[in-house]
Order: sequence, then C-alpha cells, then structure tokens
Amino acid sequence: MLNIVVLVSGGGTNLQALLDAKAAGKIPNGEFVKVISSKDGVYALERAKNSGVATAVIERKGKTAEEFENALLAELEASKADLIVLAGFMTILGEKVIEKYPEKIVNVHPALIPSFCGKGFYGLKVHEAALEYGVKVSGATVHFVNEIPDGGRIIAQKAVDVLEGDTPETLQKRIMEQAEWKILPEAVAKLCDERK
Ligand code: GAR
Repeated sequence: MLNIVVLVSGGGTNLQALLDAKAAGKIPNGEFVKVISSKDGVYALERAKNSGVATAVIERKGKTAEEFENALLAELEASKADLIVLAGFMTILGEKVIEKYPEKIVNVHPALIPSFCGKGFYGLKVHEAALEYGVKVSGATVHFVNEIPDGGRIIAQKAVDVLEGDTPETLQKRIMEQAEWKILPEAVAKLCDERK
C-alpha cells in the first residue's frame, strides 16, 4: 500500500476526483494520508476533511523559497510519503524535494505538453494561451515532476476538442471533466499497482 500525499492550492476538483476514485475502490493499492495546501482557507482542505484525510497548510506567502521547501520536506517525511500528487498546486517545487522523490511526484497539467506549459502557464492562463493561439484540440497531461517545469516523463494524456465560442472558463471545465478527472486517478491507481 503506497502512502499518497496530495499537494493543492485551490478548489481541489482534481483532489475530489482522486478521493472519489478511492471511495469507489479504484485505487486499491494507495492510501491518501495527507493533503497539504500552499494556501489557507481553500476549498480543497474542506474536501480532504469531508473524506477524513489529514490536512496541513504550509503557506508559500511570507516565506523564502528555502523556508517553504524545508517545511514541505518535513511534512512529506512525517507523512512517510511514497507518492506525491500535485493536483492544482500552484507553486514550483524546489530542487531538494525533487531530488528526494525521483519519479515519485506526479503533476496534472491542463494542456497537451509540450504545448502551453512551463513557467507562467498555470490555471486559466493555460486555456487563455490555447484560445489565443487558436488550437482546435487541447487536453490534459499527467507527468512526473523533474527539475524542468512541466518537463518530466509523460505518464498519460487525453485530447479534448476546443469548440467555437469557448472562453478560458468553458475550455477549462471541459478539459477537467473529459480529461483531468479521468486520467489523474487512473495514472495514480496504475502507479500504486506497479509499486505496491
Ligand atoms: C487544474 O486545471 C489543474 O490542471 C491546473 O489548475 C487547475 C486546478 O483545479 N494546474 C495547473 O495549471 C498546474 N500547472 P483544481 O484545484 O480544481 O484541481
């Protein structure tokens, strides 16, 4: 059984997809042991509590990058994390965390990497860029986290059509519903099965 820690910063719909998959018996070899948020008061923390998963808040604001990283490392160690899932985590991880957990950190990105990714491409900005460029297909990617933002090995991808009249919000919603909420739990379940 792998200990899974989920890192969040906001609404937590991807976290919810993971918790729902677990409740439905679809992640038999993984257990959600903690949800860590980089922001206090976000709804993702409520979702964790509603599912009985322990939470921690390590605010990025008001800390140096090093202070933040050390606090995060301590919390991950205390949780005995085997697998770390970034689910709408809006902070780029530091070197020490990445080095300590090689191919043990996965991220969901709301575009088809290598398009619309890297530093500065997060949340709605990704969908704004896709619409601005005029792509007809976008989607989501689950990948391992390495030292290059959005640059680690790809685990899963799913394409989603861009429709006439889409706004960043409507495109974001379609990509979440049709891609992110499916491929993230599936990828996590598969990794747990392989590593149990
Ligand atoms: C999701 O679309 C996720 O892919 C994206 O932010 C949203 C978070 O929503 N993540 C990134 O852009 C990371 N670079 P959620 O909090 O409802 O899961």
